[in-house]
Amino acid sequence: MAFVQEPLPFEKDALEQYGMKAETFEYHYGKHHKAYVDKLNELTKGTELADKSLEEVIKISFKDSSKAVIFNNAAQVWNHTFFWNSLKPKGGGPTGELAAKINKDFGSLEKFNEEFTNAATTQFGSGWSWLIDDGGTLKVIKTPNAENPLAHGQKALLTLDVWEHAYYIDYRNARPAFIKNFLENLVNWDFVAENLAKA
Ligand SMILES: [Fe+2]
Repeated sequence: MAFVQEPLPFEKDALEQYGMKAETFEYHYGKHHKAYVDKLNELTKGTELADKSLEEVIKISFKDSSKAVIFNNAAQVWNHTFFWNSLKPKGGGPTGELAAKINKDFGSLEKFNEEFTNAATTQFGSGWSWLIDDGGTLKVIKTPNAENPLAHGQKALLTLDVWEHAYYIDYRNARPAFIKNFLENLVNWDFVAENLAKA
């Protein structure tokens, strides 16, 4: 069974007022993300990986250096779907148990924002910044290229794509402005809370 590209969870123009143009999604979702799905299908066609779940393919290929290209494409398929779900126009703020955990593990929402900004800013070259639940403790991490928490057995709660293709249309080379806008206007805190509640 072929791997499929999940639909965007919002219209391409839904974030226009919040710093991300429809054109960004035409390229980032319509071309970059789609290319990873197509490449993954091409690479796994007729192999034992074709019938595995995307998550299984990521875990198997991460441990096998001969499958590095498969890992890169599988992880990028997963990472992008996770990223689209991390976005919501005026996503609000954390509430309830999630808000309490952020205060406990980071000190405050402001401190979390500082740590997340720092990780996203200092990821040299292409990669991702993440909020994860690492065995019951919330942490901010960054990963290079396609690497993700799933490959390391960690639970992802939120991500921001900091590959240049993620922000070039809206912000040109200004990654810090893209990060600031994400934290101020776009974090889907409901998605973070749902992920935290999962076993
Ligand atoms: Fe991307």
